[in-house]
Amino acid sequence: MPAVDGLQERVRKLGGILDVAKALVAERDLDRLLKLIVLAASRVVEADRCSLFLVDRARNELWSKVAQGVGTREIRFPMGKGIAGTVAQTNVPVNIPEAYADPRFNAGVDKETGYRTKSILCVPMRSLEGEVVGVLQALNKRGEGPFTDEDEELLSALGGQAAAAINNVLLHQEIEQLFEGFVRASVVAIESRDPTTAGHSGRVARLSVGLADALPRAESAAGKWRGAQLSNDERQELRYAALLHDFGKVGVRENVLVKANKLEPDELEILRGRFETLLAQEELNAERRKVQVLLEKPKKAKALMAEIDGQLDARRRELTGMFEFVLSCNRPTILPEGTFDRLGDIARLTYESPISREMRPFLREDEVVKLSIRKGSLTETERREIESHVTHTFRFLQQIPWTRTLKRVPDIAYGHHEKLTGGGYPRSLKEPQISLPTRMMTISDIYDALTASDRPYKRAVPKEKAYDILGDEAKRGEVDGDLLRVFIQADVPGRAPEEP
Ligand SMILES: [Fe+2]
Ligand SMILES: [Fe+2]
Repeated sequence: MPAVDGLQERVRKLGGILDVAKALVAERDLDRLLKLIVLAASRVVEADRCSLFLVDRARNELWSKVAQGVGTREIRFPMGKGIAGTVAQTNVPVNIPEAYADPRFNAGVDKETGYRTKSILCVPMRSLEGEVVGVLQALNKRGEGPFTDEDEELLSALGGQAAAAINNVLLHQEIEQLFEGFVRASVVAIESRDPTTAGHSGRVARLSVGLADALPRAESAAGKWRGAQLSNDERQELRYAALLHDFGKVGVRENVLVKANKLEPDELEILRGRFETLLAQEELNAERRKVQVLLEKPKKAKALMAEIDGQLDARRRELTGMFEFVLSCNRPTILPEGTFDRLGDIARLTYESPISREMRPFLREDEVVKLSIRKGSLTETERREIESHVTHTFRFLQQIPWTRTLKRVPDIAYGHHEKLTGGGYPRSLKEPQISLPTRMMTISDIYDALTASDRPYKRAVPKEKAYDILGDEAKRGEVDGDLLRVFIQADVPGRAPEEP
């Protein structure tokens, strides 16, 4: 029964289109999607070759990277030109049994490729809204005869599915580009707040992703992580977390963020002014004493005045020495033992205020606290303020409605200053609570902080020394030793590809 056979064949082909439609929806890569559509189209209408042209509305052109028989070079031509251009413009299918008999046919491509076009079926790919997204063109029906009405119907049905899938992918790409742009803008915001850390976010992202990529190749060196691998989505999640990990610095006061020495520059100027006043007072006193000597003991005046000058010189040296000592305490170096005794001694000295005539200490309480910082340049309060950047980062990232595949970004970033021993901040998490991506980022963050020559008062540490410092941290159980081994053996800093 030929009628039944024909019906069965039609059902089979329609079923085939449904299968293809399912595959198309799942594809996220535009190039692969276009190839898939072209293959399906050739199969459905039994064509020798198929091409797919997309409409570029901005340029009023059609373009293609997928035309069977002409390689993968990009082809572009104006809307309305040739058969595909006409179909795109008119939104009406064209079915030509004999190409060379049709004036719209351009034989140029045949000449170029040595192909002989006979029959052509060209249909618009319409979106659900009826807009032409592109054109599907089938060449040379296999076997006898031209393309049939049924072919036209089937190819149009496939074109509709393809248009929906293409729109999906393009929308997906737009969302990704939008998000990428937003992340980049945020990085600019962080780095303009703290210009001394310029490039840090990008470098931490590069190293973190580089470490993630090196892990599956590391085999036995990966230790407990042997066989572990981040999926593409997890890799992107780690990358965004790394790019944004220090965003919370925008919530930390700028002078604390860029503080180079223990006293702020204006605080140091006040202190300098005090020492200068003191010296001026000593000089004035000496002059007064000299006048007194001249009046009261003119005979011994010369010897007594020389004595006064000598005392003044000694006092000058003493005060200058004290100020130089204060200057040395102001720098963020590690201070030797006994330093604080001398600071205390100086603080206990007093001078008379030239305005209120009150006796005041040489160094105020808050100045002593700042100058006595044992390591670095930050007081306890300032250190806590800087540390709060992690919590600010987390709060900021939590505001973003992350997609399902990126929902762990805030958590990954939240843990970047935690230590596996529980000695990190802000939550003092312990080993089991710290995820693999966070551990990767922590190593990358420490490495970059050590090796970047980004601060005028901080010397960059060479790679080997940075590895040693990280090695010590791993020995103390603070950072992940297995990941550090992979980081070093795979030479992640030297080999990881640059951030896009
Ligand atoms: Fe940080
Ligand atoms: Fe950082």
